[in-house]
Amino acid sequence: MEQKIRFYTEQTLKSWDQAAEVHERRNPELINRVSENTYNGLEPDFNRLMDSQDITGKSVVQVCCNNGKDLISIKNKGAGYCLGIDGSRKFVEQARALANASPHSDLQFEHHNIYALPDSYNNTFDFAVVTVGVLAWMPRVKEFFSIVSALLKPGGILLMEEIHPVLNMYEEGTPSSLAYSYFDRSAQREEGGLDYFAGEKYESAENYCFQHTFSDILMAAISADFSLQYIEELPANVGNYCADLEETPANPPLAFIAKWKKAHE
Ligand SMILES: C[S@@+](CC[C@H](N)C(=O)[O-])C[C@H]1O[C@@H](n2cnc3c(N)ncnc32)[C@H](O)[C@@H]1O
Repeated sequence: MEQKIRFYTEQTLKSWDQAAEVHERRNPELINRVSENTYNGLEPDFNRLMDSQDITGKSVVQVCCNNGKDLISIKNKGAGYCLGIDGSRKFVEQARALANASPHSDLQFEHHNIYALPDSYNNTFDFAVVTVGVLAWMPRVKEFFSIVSALLKPGGILLMEEIHPVLNMYEEGTPSSLAYSYFDRSAQREEGGLDYFAGEKYESAENYCFQHTFSDILMAAISADFSLQYIEELPANVGNYCADLEETPANPPLAFIAKWKKAHE
């Protein structure tokens, strides 16, 4: 792994480890909710995209899976072998605990920095899934897409729901307002914590996030041998950042969903 990528990602993952206890406190009911085989924590638009696919018995990998609630939801839809990968050891522990409380103790969760995945996972999965709040932590989006592509079998499908890069131009406030260049790709250092449920600030290890424009994302996918099958920009608040923009009349795109297919060879 390149030294800069190692620095940014390892530092950021320390702050995710610290956030694990905060997030668990915000969702005390989750452990009970996942025990139902009808549990579905997916955002509505991503749920619609998932339901447009036949995943019955198919292998699924979720990259940067956090506490695994989305993968548990996908398993409840009939998926076969499911693996969640996350770089925060504490969130992987939470994901394993939630999986044990769910009807699917066979769900597998592993701890890896995505930029240092062992080759043994390559060419294994029918589907890869990335849900909201992942791309911004990636110093290099091109490498990220090629790592995800390598996990898929030829012809495998990547399903994504992400924050729209236009949203990163806004600063949170009442109301939220335009503040940042769309094209500023420099590392953004923050240390106020990652409580995007209640917005509470706490002392946290610094973390680094990155802007990737829409064309950066689309070009990264092309360079990783993906062909775009579906894309939709959305007005929905999915990440709880500048949530008021969902209601404003001059509303920007807040999220997108997309489906890509990996080339057959
Ligand atoms: C916003 S959360 C994703 C939440 C997910 N959409 C959900 O609802 O469960 C982002 C996750 O990415 C993980 N992450 C960030 N950088 C990573 C890296 N370099 N390698 C692996 N995981 C990483 C964090 O640990 C965190 O769990």
